[in-house]
Amino acid sequence: MKVAIVGAGMVGSAAGYALVLQNACSELVFVDLNAKRAQAEAEDIGHAVPLSGSTIVRAGGYPEIAGASVVILACGVSQRPGETRPELLSRNAEVFRAVIGEVMAVVPDAILLVASNPVDVITDISTRLSGLPAARVIGSGTILDTARFRWLIGRHLGISPGSIHGYVLGEHGDSEVLAWSSVRAGSVPLSAFAAQIGAPLTADVRSRIDTGVRRAAYTIIEGKGATWYGIGAGLARIVRAILRDEQAVLSVSTVEPEVQGVRDVALSLPRLVGAQGVSATLWPDLDADETEAFGRSAAILKEMSDSVTL
Ligand code: LAC
Repeated sequence: MKVAIVGAGMVGSAAGYALVLQNACSELVFVDLNAKRAQAEAEDIGHAVPLSGSTIVRAGGYPEIAGASVVILACGVSQRPGETRPELLSRNAEVFRAVIGEVMAVVPDAILLVASNPVDVITDISTRLSGLPAARVIGSGTILDTARFRWLIGRHLGISPGSIHGYVLGEHGDSEVLAWSSVRAGSVPLSAFAAQIGAPLTADVRSRIDTGVRRAAYTIIEGKGATWYGIGAGLARIVRAILRDEQAVLSVSTVEPEVQGVRDVALSLPRLVGAQGVSATLWPDLDADETEAFGRSAAILKEMSDSVTL
């Protein structure tokens, strides 16, 4: 199965590198306005192939993405230190107006995987511009936030983050909702498990984990200018679920017809991801505060989306 990555910057390259190390696809094609950069990334990542699998890694123009099952759209400009994702919007909406047309002309049947921020609004824009069903335009959404959430809880409890089951919902951004009330460690409600093992979830612990998730990108951007490994792994996870038709539950962003009265808004919920894109949305039980925060996140995203004229 072939995967195309439009945008050979740090995020697109990290996603491509992850896919090669996981031997997840048979062919990988990088496209970038900076053809020299795309070629260099393809070469560099290609040199990992003999050590990890058999992926054919190339660079080229849009014609070379023909036959791709998934197109990762990592072609936006990066968040500047201190810049919020909404401020990034106007700069990236322009980019996607051009890119979506080029991609649809070559691979109208591919699933689009949006990586550029503000990813929920860009997912909405990509859905509108492409004319594809919402299920086939997937944003990375809160897959990374959910990973951060599980990682920090696992570190507090001293257990594998793979045994923490819980989600971050809504905007991939400041209004995101950490759905604490439905988190399980194994099959045990989080608070009960934490008390059982003598690592209680105090208000201070919850606050520290909340800040650790919500401010992760800002902190990393301050330190190294951008984030790429975490999101690269998140994109590779979504691609694997599509290519293997896993029907895996992943917190990803697609346009939802209605959320607490807000119509047609792209935001993250746990969704079944497989060969046809998103096949179902799961609505977790939320407590009153989480429900209110989720509705607020939807309204914030809708306001941002409505500010963009296509
Ligand atoms: C982050 C970027 C991908 O959260 O928005 O690291």
